[in-house]
Amino acid sequence: MRLAVLASGRGSNLLAILAAIGRGEIDARVAGVFSDKPDAPALEHARQAGLHAQALSPRGFASRVDFDEHLFSMVDAVHPDLIVCAGYMRLISDPVVAAHTGRMINIHPSLLPEFKGLRTHQQALDAHATVHGASVHYVTAELDGGPVIAQARVPVEADDDAARLAERVLQREHPLLVATLRELATGRIAWIDQRVHFDGHPLPAPLLLDDANQLVRNRTLQESNA
Ligand code: GRF
Repeated sequence: MRLAVLASGRGSNLLAILAAIGRGEIDARVAGVFSDKPDAPALEHARQAGLHAQALSPRGFASRVDFDEHLFSMVDAVHPDLIVCAGYMRLISDPVVAAHTGRMINIHPSLLPEFKGLRTHQQALDAHATVHGASVHYVTAELDGGPVIAQARVPVEADDDAARLAERVLQREHPLLVATLRELATGRIAWIDQRVHFDGHPLPAPLLLDDANQLVRNRTLQESNA
């Protein structure tokens, strides 16, 4: 599986992907890393790993669509099977999303559909959530609204602030993204007929990351939905 990774900042999810590929845990290679921020540390990580790394600044583009079309022509040029938005902090315009539906995923730091958008950890604290976490979902036109593939749950502790909670969620984001990519590469997870499939059947509820960092079915939710 050829991956293109989009990142705007730190790049810890990119590093987790590269480490897992290095350990032989994901049958994939990173064909390119792309950013809207020329000084993103993620690009430097990519270069240090000897990967194709390219930035395109939105400055100078007349419209969002114009920028996205240029950026994604660079992405498409590396012929990715899957595009992974890992801390890519820009909205992607509808025509470009539509052209890549089912081939683009995003990691978002909340248990979607709760807490879309930015400052998700503060949103969770403000809502007095007792459980928070992260989700990997297919990208659709609705921001953070595409079908959810898998989630990692993180208990909120009484003395949490947004920074502490973000740090614990990040520690679970990395194995969540790695496990999801592993099963996308094996074909156990697939996008068929506009739906997430797992082991050849539509997935009724997001998979959960267990303590052994494996994706398992969410039995409770499935039974209550049955
Ligand atoms: C992660 O929390 C990710 O979920 C969010 O942005 C952050 C990116 O972190 N969308 P990093 O750049 O991968 O370290």
